Amino acid sequence: MGSKLQNTQLGTSPLGYALGAEIEGLDISLNLGSQIYEAINHIWQEHHVVVFRGKHLQPRDIVFFAEGFGDLDDHASTPFYRHPDVPQLLQITNRLIDGKPSETRNTGRNWHSDYSYTGRPAAASLLYCNQCPPVGGDTMFANMVRAYESLSGTMKGIVDNLHAVYDVSLTAGINERDASKTAEVRRLNPPIAHPAVRVHPRSGKRALYVSERVSHFHGMTRAESKPLIEFLCCHATQPENVYRHNWREGDLVCWDNRTVMHIALADFDQNQPRHMLRATILGEDSGFVVRDE
Ligand code: SIN
Repeated sequence: MGSKLQNTQLGTSPLGYALGAEIEGLDISLNLGSQIYEAINHIWQEHHVVVFRGKHLQPRDIVFFAEGFGDLDDHASTPFYRHPDVPQLLQITNRLIDGKPSETRNTGRNWHSDYSYTGRPAAASLLYCNQCPPVGGDTMFANMVRAYESLSGTMKGIVDNLHAVYDVSLTAGINERDASKTAEVRRLNPPIAHPAVRVHPRSGKRALYVSERVSHFHGMTRAESKPLIEFLCCHATQPENVYRHNWREGDLVCWDNRTVMHIALADFDQNQPRHMLRATILGEDSGFVVRDE
């Protein structure tokens, strides 16, 4: 099936120049079949972020749809934040939980790719908006394939040979969470090195795999690494390389963590509810644990 025909069948419209497309008119709560999943994957690989709007999904509908893309992470690396009845879903919410402010209310406040600090960094994430504030609470996405491709040949040669060390302690706001839970999350996720360029297993595209959660490059000091990490993050997140999603209730936004990094903005009134549910597709085994560096 050619790409035009697939796109026509699924009613796709681009949302941004660098990345992002909406897929219209598909009832994703149905059993879609492998051809439709193949068509979605095709669009997803081209646009990196795909958006479905106006969906009324129950937690199990999200899991059912997400399972068509691969095995789901059970979120064991951050076990405290799972949905109480559906452990395949992570709750990212500012609703009170057990009468206390939710620990996940400030999730994702620096540029990252999901679960990069684990041995199976996420392939993809699907985030459903159950409730959102009237203004703000947006999420921004950066195209890491374009970021890689627009480097000079010399810089490509440098990053091709680097391993980036991911440290869960660099997750923004982690120190404001419950100290015993944070200690457990650190114990479960020791610093881990992954190639600084990630090759997409289906498209073969090369993407920069560096974020604000990288402490240093393996074999280099933190002082040596810092300017390069800052340069690469700045380069990747230039406005021309970013799509900013303004949420509506019923949006399901799906991003490819192998080719995109993202950030959740705190640009909203925290008294207004923002309640999101995330399914995470497991990526391939990768990386090696780094100690004493
Ligand atoms: C995340 O980083 O997965 C959360 C994104 C969001 O809440 O917008």
